[in-house]
Amino acid sequence: AEQQIVMSGIRPTGFLHLGNYFGALRNYVRMQNEFTCYFMVADLHALTTLTETKELKSNVARVLAENIACGLDPDKAALYCQSHVYETNELYLLLNMLAYKGELEKTVTFKEKARLHPDNVNAGLLTYPVLQAADILLHRATLVPVGKDQEQHLEMSRNFGNRFNHRFGDVFPEPHAFNYGDELVKVPSLDGAGKMSKSENQFATIYLSDDDELIRKKVMKAKTDSGTPEPGTPMGENISNLFSLMKLVCAPDVIEQFMNTYNNGTIRYGDLKKQLAEDMVKFISPIREKAEAIRTDEKYLKEIMEKGAAKARKSAQATMLLVRDAMGL
Ligand code: ADP
Ligand code: NA
Repeated sequence: AEQQIVMSGIRPTGFLHLGNYFGALRNYVRMQNEFTCYFMVADLHALTTLTETKELKSNVARVLAENIACGLDPDKAALYCQSHVYETNELYLLLNMLAYKGELEKTVTFKEKARLHPDNVNAGLLTYPVLQAADILLHRATLVPVGKDQEQHLEMSRNFGNRFNHRFGDVFPEPHAFNYGDELVKVPSLDGAGKMSKSENQFATIYLSDDDELIRKKVMKAKTDSGTPEPGTPMGENISNLFSLMKLVCAPDVIEQFMNTYNNGTIRYGDLKKQLAEDMVKFISPIREKAEAIRTDEKYLKEIMEKGAAKARKSAQATMLLVRDAMGL
């Protein structure tokens, strides 16, 4: 079979959290052993919402360090910074001719961000899905490890690629969202409302950089029901989120025990949260320590980014030859 190409990225807009790890990074680490992989730190995407860039470079370094601390190997995958691969810009421009204003305006994430940043609804924000399509199509990638929140963007990437093929000739294979499990992952927030995220309630998000005490504090603060549930009532969002989080870091028999006590009405939420906190600490502390050591090694990070960009540009240039030829440029 032909070698599958993998592409994905994370924006350097803040510390990485458990949602990024289980939605994206966990898959990256496994995929680098099986496929040709391109993983980038998406600094151009970050510009769609930033008006000030003093910390952008150090955030790129931090995300890269956290990627490596989670197990990404620069000798296996191409690890690069998006803005270093100039071919992205050209493909983005060309794909913009294939993207309609109406479909861009309907994108859920655009509407959400326009609501959060009403005084900076810029064209880059509107065309975010086009830039994302450029990132993916640039490598003619077929597998895109992302969380559930990215499903709609992936569909748009497929649409732009198919539209190009239809109009100018076959260049792009179809990219599909990928996860090793059956479904794309959605890591819930500690406060039960929606997905864990960099931009929402900071105390409801567990970062890979949180120290042990902070993790314990955040988990113990999570709201639970008072008393035990009436038999037969559906589990509330502020309990089901804790069970979902347990599935990520706790042993199956431990989860089963708590589920049994939930079902027979003897559950003690304080105990559940203590267990969850300790297992999160065990999971995160080695990653945090490793990332801290790498983050300050500027020379090493620079080398990795140069090597990654060289690999990525080689693949990008091959695609751009096909694109230019197909479009008559
Ligand atoms: P954020 O949404 O925190 O700003 P990004 O947009 O940079 O993070 O997303 C980076 C990756 O992490 C994407 O693949 C995204 O699908 C994944 N991701 C982010 N939050 C979650 C979550 N709560 N559950 C699952 N995956 C997530
Ligand atoms: Na996201």
